[in-house]
Amino acid sequence: MEATLSLEFLRVVEQAAIACARSIGHGRRKHSDKLAVEAMRKAMETVRMNGTIVIGEGERDEAPMLYIGEKVGLGDGNPSVDIAVDPLEGTNLCATGAPNAIAVLAATEGGGLLHAPDLYMQKLVVGPAAKGKVHLDAPVHENLAAIAKALDRPIAEITVSVLDRERHADLIADIRKAGARIQLIGDGDLSAAISAAVSGTGIHCVMGTGGAPEGVLSAAALKCLNGEIQGRLVVDTNTASREKAEAMGARFDKIYTTDELCPGKQIIFAASGVTTGNLLDGVQFFGHGIRTKSLILTYTDRKVRFIDTVHVHEGEDITIRF
Ligand code: FBP
Repeated sequence: MEATLSLEFLRVVEQAAIACARSIGHGRRKHSDKLAVEAMRKAMETVRMNGTIVIGEGERDEAPMLYIGEKVGLGDGNPSVDIAVDPLEGTNLCATGAPNAIAVLAATEGGGLLHAPDLYMQKLVVGPAAKGKVHLDAPVHENLAAIAKALDRPIAEITVSVLDRERHADLIADIRKAGARIQLIGDGDLSAAISAAVSGTGIHCVMGTGGAPEGVLSAAALKCLNGEIQGRLVVDTNTASREKAEAMGARFDKIYTTDELCPGKQIIFAASGVTTGNLLDGVQFFGHGIRTKSLILTYTDRKVRFIDTVHVHEGEDITIRF
């Protein structure tokens, strides 16, 4: 599956990124999301898989496309694949032209991704060096000390990515007290999670509460990158949505590990930059063509591919710049 479908999924995230990148800065987040969803759905039609969306845009009645349970790909006779999609992760980032908007999906064999409800999840993400040395319930300063030790540097040289939200006021105060640096992000804790497992991005850890679906997508990437995510679902005050989550098998009393969020044995994680960020450059339009920067991770063969694609407009005679 990994060998045969990687390039196909590359094409899928590239098309989603290109479609919504045309609306960067237009201030219409829902419209940008729709462009990404439509392009991703269309690109999936020709993928040689019998695919099922397990994390998508929501329920069938509220999402016309890429809804949970939707069948995608060429269908019968092709490998069964479960897919988690976030066609535009960071809708506000795209709407305002801010960094780190990406088009993303993760694919595994059937049953390889937790069917996470659309709730919040408390998360702790670290890269390979600090894997196994932190705990979601440990005090913030202890986790930061463990990360600093693992990376052989003082806490002052650790940067934590945190969503800029009221709910994180105490967390932010604790991180500052411990002496670490913070990158406050408006949106996009999935992109931050991937960055935490890639040296040179300047992000060493992600702390705080974000979307649970993004937590599952993060787990797929982190498993390929040998990093770690620990996540706990946040109890929804809305009884109906809590009961619905419980009926899906969600548990609020446990810390989900990377492997529990993404138990897959075969994993493809694909992301394409929409706006330029820590990890990937965004889509560039240059008149006679388009350039995209993407990341494809595969688990069994341990490949991390950074892919720079020039999409040449048909019939145009153009010069490709290095
Ligand atoms: P969208 O792509 O749906 O706009 O979500 C972006 C995001 O910032 C995620 O990265 C994050 O997990 C979640 O929203 C946080 O949710 P909230 O904005 O409600 O705090």
